[in-house]
Amino acid sequence: FKCLNCFLYMCLMKDSMENIILCHGGVGSKERPLDDMKGIAEKAYSKNPLDSVVNAVVIMEDDPRFNAGTGSVIRIDGSVQMDAAVSIPGKFGSVIGIENVKNPVLVARDVMEKTPHIILSGSGAVQFARKLGYGEYDPKTERTISQYSKMVEALKKETTDNRYKIFKELIRNGIIDEPHDTVGAVARIDGKFAAAVSTGGASPMMRGRVGDVPIPGAGIFCGEKGAVVATGIGEEIAKRVLCHRIYERINTDKLENILREEIEYFGENLAGVIAVSHDEHAFFSNGSMGTDMFKIKV
Ligand code: GLY
Repeated sequence: FKCLNCFLYMCLMKDSMENIILCHGGVGSKERPLDDMKGIAEKAYSKNPLDSVVNAVVIMEDDPRFNAGTGSVIRIDGSVQMDAAVSIPGKFGSVIGIENVKNPVLVARDVMEKTPHIILSGSGAVQFARKLGYGEYDPKTERTISQYSKMVEALKKETTDNRYKIFKELIRNGIIDEPHDTVGAVARIDGKFAAAVSTGGASPMMRGRVGDVPIPGAGIFCGEKGAVVATGIGEEIAKRVLCHRIYERINTDKLENILREEIEYFGENLAGVIAVSHDEHAFFSNGSMGTDMFKIKV
């Protein structure tokens, strides 16, 4: 595996007698101190797996350092559109391009639990949130506004038509930070699984662009064998249907090996995953990825 700058965090052990919550703060930032993540999983832990993963994602959505909820990146047109999803075996809920709400992951949970649908998008998602009492909230921060102005200036000067080339050039020149990307969590509590994810998207991007997070099987999958969530360049992850691929492979090899092989496929494109099965947990990324884990014997 050729990525020289990659940080690699893997963990594998037989842990079927333990409840576990595992969360990540996104792949991509070399600067992000791993301490940023400490304590999130423990604070989020509850005896209900869905509550646990949603709590973890809410904590990260409310922390302006993460690209989800407050602190979500601003799109090329100046708007903030966020995606989020939750899943338990047989159930899924997500929101696409939701705007002006504080916690997209809570709205995604309401889509799953209170509607016959799996996905609500755009104005429909916002309208649904308002009817349920979610107030108006501006997720922009001083940091994201300043990054946005720099990005717009830099994009005006670019002539290349390759989005990823532009993106890499902007990072290389210090115009924008490497994105922290999606936040996510998976849990196995008393043998039951849940997964949750949330993101402002992968900057720079057009208004209306959708990544992997709200698409079942792409950035998230949860079934009777386990739970998987992804982070990274959403287009690449979605084309690969990454989380469902990994889920389907659970129990065919060590979870650690499955994650490594699946991430190696992405080459230079940033990607990371966390996963739990009945007796294993693992995380793997091809860029630095802050993670936190809380385990308790049962
Ligand atoms: N992984 C987040 C996105 O690409 O939108």
